Amino acid sequence: MVSYKEIGLVNTREMFAKAIEGGYAIPAFNFNNMEQLQAIISAAAETKSPVILQVSKGARQYANQTLLRYMAEGAVEYAKELGWENPQIVLHLDHGDSFETCKSCIDMGFSSVMIDGSHLPYEENVALTKKVVEYAHQFDVTVEGELGVLAGVEDEVSSDHHTYTKPEEVVDFVSRTGCDSLAISIGTSHGAYKFTPEQCTVDPETGLLVPPMLAFDVLEGVEKELPGFPIVLHGSSSVPQDEVATINKYGGALKAAIGIPEPWLRKAAESAVCKINIDSDSRLAMTAAIREVFANKPAEFDPRKYLGPARDNMKKLYIHKIVNVLGSDGKAQ
Ligand code: G3H
Ligand code: 13P
Ligand code: ZN
Repeated sequence: MVSYKEIGLVNTREMFAKAIEGGYAIPAFNFNNMEQLQAIISAAAETKSPVILQVSKGARQYANQTLLRYMAEGAVEYAKELGWENPQIVLHLDHGDSFETCKSCIDMGFSSVMIDGSHLPYEENVALTKKVVEYAHQFDVTVEGELGVLAGVEDEVSSDHHTYTKPEEVVDFVSRTGCDSLAISIGTSHGAYKFTPEQCTVDPETGLLVPPMLAFDVLEGVEKELPGFPIVLHGSSSVPQDEVATINKYGGALKAAIGIPEPWLRKAAESAVCKINIDSDSRLAMTAAIREVFANKPAEFDPRKYLGPARDNMKKLYIHKIVNVLGSDGKAQ
């Protein structure tokens, strides 16, 4: 049993309270490899932004949970080396699918876990989330629960349509489970294909596709029921069209990749939404940079020569999100 406190990590409690009060959101960036982690930490250190490092099931399978946990410990020291005296870094399990997975992460030094029972019948979701909370709180680890189902693939859980969170359920769920934050469904979804072109309208000025508006009325309903309670938005990548264009220019085939417009996320960040999950945008930034090097320098075979530009492009993206979308810069001096 290792306490996250011994390795310089923090949980989400104070971070979220400040974010709600200040009208901004904390970035929750997924990481699977060293370059992503370096880019996240150097972006957070440069902007003095609190940050959540997220480890998904796919990341645990790809990179190994233990290795990722030690990389996060290294990240705290790296942040200090970069001149960030008091780094505010959370190590969070993204979409935990069982009590055992959550327990294993807590025992290993994660400071926050998500238990995703959103696909379960309501009472089973309550029981599972409560069990995780009871274990986690003994070690001052914070827990994110989820109510409502996101369209698309939610890890192993497939669903073709959104089931928006029901505001009338949230008080019962939060009070019976004791969870510290709640992920809700208001029309976002995972991945780079969040909407079909048929669901969108064309912006007459830019010619770009505009997706259907998020269900801000559901968010407002939740806020009314749970004033000041931390809300989480999954599936919040914006799918930058310049990165998509670069990928396609250099041999990629991403057709009609559409994300959430950034001004909508800015609006959400100003509300009780205090954690915004971004993974796909980082994948796009990495892939665009690598494809460009491969296309322009076909003789190059030193991985540092393409992973380096990929890291730089991801860092630029993270800084943009922190400063221009979430507004978390300067909040962790
Ligand atoms: O929740 C979805 C995240 O983007 C993680 O996806 O399991 O493929 O790493 P992943
Ligand atoms: P995106 O696929 O929109 O980046 O969402 C990531 C996410 O919600 C991770 O939990
Ligand atoms: Zn998610």
